[in-house]
Amino acid sequence: MFLAIALVSIGCLFAGGTKEAKNGYVFAADATWPPLEFVDNGTLTGFEVELMPLIGEKVGVPMTVKNIPWDTIFAGLANGAYDGVSSGVTVTEERKNSMDFSTPILQAGQVVIIRTTDKSTVKGIENLTGKKIGVQIGTTGDFALENYQVTKKVYDDIGLAIEDLLNGNLDAAVCDSLIASDFVLANANYSSKLTVAGEPFTQEDIAIAVKKGNTELLNLVNKGLQMMKDDGSFDALKQKWNLL
Ligand code: ARG
Repeated sequence: MFLAIALVSIGCLFAGGTKEAKNGYVFAADATWPPLEFVDNGTLTGFEVELMPLIGEKVGVPMTVKNIPWDTIFAGLANGAYDGVSSGVTVTEERKNSMDFSTPILQAGQVVIIRTTDKSTVKGIENLTGKKIGVQIGTTGDFALENYQVTKKVYDDIGLAIEDLLNGNLDAAVCDSLIASDFVLANANYSSKLTVAGEPFTQEDIAIAVKKGNTELLNLVNKGLQMMKDDGSFDALKQKWNLL
């Protein structure tokens, strides 16, 4: 009897602990960004969608990913709707004011996607002065275009910009190099019609974001990441998603 009561009290102690200890941690990802996060046949998948649960396994705390639109993703982090953002997020000085970042998981840069028929005239961003360029709103691609004299058109979903580029409504689209490779080069529907012009014109670190001041979670993520880097499972996952 005493034992039963003791066990129940211990159980209550755990149940009454932090929200995280009970349910694990939830990360948001905008599933428009293959191969990092996207929806395949109705299922959320991708490099980061698989990475977070693996980090969680390493440190013994469940970590899951849910699909949240990019335009509200940082607001949701700030107001506690979830614990982190694993959504191809570039580390920027500005963002560091409102969130904390893990050690980098990937490197990327902004690239220009054009129609293959424009290949001989457009060699990179420098040849697009005065042209119409599509980009996902609130991304580092969006911010980078402020430095160029172009007409920017913002989209909630880079896939819509790619469609507009194909239809002739845009002269180019700009997004992270990793995503351009997947969307254009590895996509049978697009690979003959679209191409990447030139080299990346920015250099960016991509990391997992947590709510500012959540050092407990930040330490867990960094610890799990390091364990995965050390035992080779991080590179194996990168390899699986063609990110090596
Ligand atoms: N790396 C860019 C940024 O942080 C774009 C990330 C967009 N991610 C996404 N899942 N749509 O601004």
